[in-house]
Amino acid sequence: MFNLNEFKTRRHQLIKAMGDGIAIIPTSPELIRNRDSHYPYRFDSYFYYLTGFKEPEALLVLVAGEDSKSILFCRDKDIEREIWDGFRYGPDAAKHEFGFDQAYSFNALDELMPKLLANQPKLFYSLGADVAWDVRVTSWLNQVKAQARSGVSAPDGVIDVRKLVDEMRLYKSSYELDLMRQSANIASRAHARAMQYVRGGQMEYEVEAEFLHEFYRSGAQAPAYTSIVAGGANACTLHYNANNGVLKDGDLLLIDAGCELDGYASDITRTFPVNGKFSAAQRDVYDLVLAAQAAAIVQVTVRNHWNSPHEAALDVLVQGFIDMKLCQGSKDAVLESGAYRQFYMHRTGHWLGLDVHDAGEYKDKAGDWRKLEAGMTLTVEPGCYIRPADNVPEHFWNIGIRIEDDVLVTDGVCEVLTVDAPKSIADIEALMRG
Ligand code: GLY
Ligand code: MN
Ligand code: MN
Repeated sequence: MFNLNEFKTRRHQLIKAMGDGIAIIPTSPELIRNRDSHYPYRFDSYFYYLTGFKEPEALLVLVAGEDSKSILFCRDKDIEREIWDGFRYGPDAAKHEFGFDQAYSFNALDELMPKLLANQPKLFYSLGADVAWDVRVTSWLNQVKAQARSGVSAPDGVIDVRKLVDEMRLYKSSYELDLMRQSANIASRAHARAMQYVRGGQMEYEVEAEFLHEFYRSGAQAPAYTSIVAGGANACTLHYNANNGVLKDGDLLLIDAGCELDGYASDITRTFPVNGKFSAAQRDVYDLVLAAQAAAIVQVTVRNHWNSPHEAALDVLVQGFIDMKLCQGSKDAVLESGAYRQFYMHRTGHWLGLDVHDAGEYKDKAGDWRKLEAGMTLTVEPGCYIRPADNVPEHFWNIGIRIEDDVLVTDGVCEVLTVDAPKSIADIEALMRG
């Protein structure tokens, strides 16, 4: 799958956007979980986007201008360490395999970086993202500044490199879309599998295990985020992830779970009855959320802006809340007062890509909602969460529903990447009947 040209092109694009100066982009550190056990390693998304390189202890330098070049710093080959921890490329092989102009040992950073920074007019760096790197970069800069009397100049201030890369990451290439479609397919299959598997009396974590099984057996490297497997009232806790409740016959089960494939996230929510049959009240709320989602998806076109799907979903939901006597008054009054937030308190989506809440601005430079453009990928995820309350008819209590799909903006009708995860009541009930 690795496509060398894709990553080289991105580096050239960034170098062009920089104009001149130098960029420093480190990958993520390894993190201790407890004592000497580590969390599974995950590279930094910006670093990975520009390199395709997955090892820890690595840093990318890009020099723009006349003598532009890309330089990787990475771990040395080390047979002793490789016996314990596994393969590492080392600078020579990494330079060749990943197409850098130069590559050096990670251990040479403190010696070489002050030299590379000398006389550069600008520094592009993600100041504030990692304090340890901030300290290190500052010390390199101070070494350059100390040479002022020898006529050496240091970059004048720091420009956030993420601003430039965010703009690139927002528009997915066909290489990225291929991965995103695969990631979406794997997660869609996992949701269908869960619908077939679930029975009353099971624990939420048993269903979570089905997801992990489907993700890993399909080649995904990890869940894209901690799965939410929320039975009954737990679905009304938006970020529920204890996943240790008993699934009860008659309850709904909300599952928000997606996987990460070669860095790319899928993000799907489906809600279905534990016993395979929606009750009348569950059906009413489900059909409302589904209608809101359909209205929102229609708005995902290049004629619209980022907020159009949210506005469309809200319009449908608020009318439904009034019809179901969850909200009182006219639609305009409920929208104006925000009374709907008792049942719908989040927005209808976010950009999706290497990060589940992906990089990219939602407003343009003038402060208006950004226009949707072909190649952008986003989620569409309206919901309705009804906690017990005096102003709520009792048959709706503890119903929590979200329906979330991953969508690609195209020049025509948008493409729903997660179309294989069953969604209509008829499809869900038919699948669960087996
Ligand atoms: N799973 C995270 C989200 O839906 O935003
Ligand atoms: Mn989402
Ligand atoms: Mn989600």
